[in-house]
Amino acid sequence: MEQVKTRMLFDENSIAARVQELGKQISVDHPEGNLLLIGILKGSFVFMADLARSLSLPCQIDFARISSYGTGTVSAGQLKVVMDVGISVKDRHVILVDDIVDSGLTLSEYRKRLESASPKSLKIAAMIDKTARREKFVHVDYYGFRIEDGFLVGYGLDWDEKYRNLGGIYIIEP
Ligand code: PRP
Repeated sequence: MEQVKTRMLFDENSIAARVQELGKQISVDHPEGNLLLIGILKGSFVFMADLARSLSLPCQIDFARISSYGTGTVSAGQLKVVMDVGISVKDRHVILVDDIVDSGLTLSEYRKRLESASPKSLKIAAMIDKTARREKFVHVDYYGFRIEDGFLVGYGLDWDEKYRNLGGIYIIEP
């Protein structure tokens, strides 16, 4: 890669193996079906594609786009739903799908909003659960890998909108 120095953390094979495990677990946990996967754009698009295909249950798929106000650091509650989910979550088993949980603001806020629309259950799946900067508690029901800190790219994660298309997950070296 150009411009930044990176080190691979998780290669394509280990990601694929984890996704298969998560898909199996989600399928076992939802024997009733009635699943609605909601991906948070844009970062979730790669994980969503793999996770959805790893399920042994029929499911519906939709997306939402959430952005933080301004360009600085996100402050609590300062989130804007740019595009809300289009399919009704009422009485559905909903799984929010994202590439990473970092401060936890995005998913904790959006989760609250969806809960008020009466889903039957609501869980969270994230490829990366990054813990060091957590500001809001988020229970990540299904995570691919847990790391403490670091700026990650690849598998949907971007740096300045680049590198989302890398198959592995890399850490940017300082
Ligand atoms: C990233 C990521 C999560 C969110 C996690 O999205 O995809 O949705 O940040 O951060 P948080 O836990 O601190 O809220 P971003 O806003 O960078 O947009 P993108 O998905 O388009 O890259």
